[in-house]
Amino acid sequence: MPETTHVDYSTKIPNNVGLMDDQRVLKALEQWHPGYIDWWMTMGPEGFQTSDVYLRTAVSIDPKGWAKFDYVKMPEYRWGILLAPRLEDRKVNFGAHKGEAAWQEVPGEYRAMLRRLIVVQGDTEPASVEQQRFLGKTAPSLYDMRNLFQVNVEEGRHLWAMVYLLHKYFGKDGREEADQLLQRRSGDADKPRMLGAFNEETPDWLSFFMFTYFTDRDGKMQLESLAQSGFDPLSRTCRFMLTEEAHHMFVGETGVTRAVERTCQAMQEARIEDPYDIAAVRKLGVIDLPTMQKKANLHFSLSLDLFGSEVSTNAANYYNAGVKGRFQETRIEDDHQLTGATYPVSKLVDGQIRMVEEPALTAINMRLRDDYVADCAKGMERWNKAIEKSGVAFRFKLPHVAFHREIGEFQGINASPEGEALSDAEWASRKDEWLPSKADGDFIQSLMQPCWEPGQFASWIAAPKVGIDNKAGDFEYVKIHRA
Ligand SMILES: [Fe+2]
Ligand SMILES: [Fe+2]
Repeated sequence: MPETTHVDYSTKIPNNVGLMDDQRVLKALEQWHPGYIDWWMTMGPEGFQTSDVYLRTAVSIDPKGWAKFDYVKMPEYRWGILLAPRLEDRKVNFGAHKGEAAWQEVPGEYRAMLRRLIVVQGDTEPASVEQQRFLGKTAPSLYDMRNLFQVNVEEGRHLWAMVYLLHKYFGKDGREEADQLLQRRSGDADKPRMLGAFNEETPDWLSFFMFTYFTDRDGKMQLESLAQSGFDPLSRTCRFMLTEEAHHMFVGETGVTRAVERTCQAMQEARIEDPYDIAAVRKLGVIDLPTMQKKANLHFSLSLDLFGSEVSTNAANYYNAGVKGRFQETRIEDDHQLTGATYPVSKLVDGQIRMVEEPALTAINMRLRDDYVADCAKGMERWNKAIEKSGVAFRFKLPHVAFHREIGEFQGINASPEGEALSDAEWASRKDEWLPSKADGDFIQSLMQPCWEPGQFASWIAAPKVGIDNKAGDFEYVKIHRA
């Protein structure tokens, strides 16, 4: 059967990859499926597995109508395998193999590399579901609860997407890796998830919005650069995942905007002009803007670590091999091989932060991170617009890339958000000004009261401008089943 834009529902697993005619992979996935459901039931959204949630399900890859909306119980969600259409005559667009036809099978010499990239990407998907599993209970509205669950089921689908590639193209090693993806656990001491930010807690809804804003955006950048891959099935998978990822970042960006709007509105009503009068603002039952800035500092810095070391031979090897490119690779005007090219990298030189020209090939991570930082800054401007509109004198700012880092050039120093190096003592005495303190966390936690009446919102967050799927304001996005 040829690959189509329509999803095949005749098997348990909706797909547009002709699974019915691929009995080996179909069987492997059917064997993996119960373990996945088991993982979802134990590590997925707690307390809502029997509720009806108004979810979109990817049913096709037609850009005009790829999803349909309906009430679904999450364990019955149709997690499918969908690849963006194959492009006629697609080539390897960069690296040593530039100009060759894109690979439909894994080149033997790059097998280990590709497997590693797919496993690392795959590991982040279930990790975020685990991190967010308790948030349903404190949802500030049914609208937000639905968005959380939408993100969760789609991260589940992204895991399926990576597991499909492992089963289809990596034989026995692939099956073993797919099983291990269900065994690691976010934050677990013995079997943690692979990357730092995915082992952190997501203790409250402001964290959830910051996570989807900053960390899902790292996901976007990684998917964008894997979408450039010379290994065509990986490219096509990532291209389709990006359509879903956009909603995750929308949830984060608008979630923070709505919290900002509510805070500014409450301040205006109470005639509080000073955004730093934290005690007065908190009395209004809203989150003060400086605390939101601290949360942004935390999630931004954790997400920067996901880009790895600024200068990296691994990244150079991936690029040279043609397996992982740059953001919007084909739109960049250069030789796409980076012979002799350099790229400015911020480095620590004699205790000072300086820009140093490095070979562009080893600076691939740095370049992707720069693109990421620029993308983060854009959305933050929208938060600032919302503040400006209300007349409150406050602006969000991204901290310096050296701030609060665990990986790369700046892991050994204590930098302020402005990028000055501090002594250990200075850092210890000031870090609560820049990162959420225990008291900040406790305060936010005190606001996390569930608000589950249709059309109602918790004290700290404004209503959205439009509903999901154009639904009216009082639409019941989740029909909560109380057992
Ligand atoms: Fe994802
Ligand atoms: Fe995501």
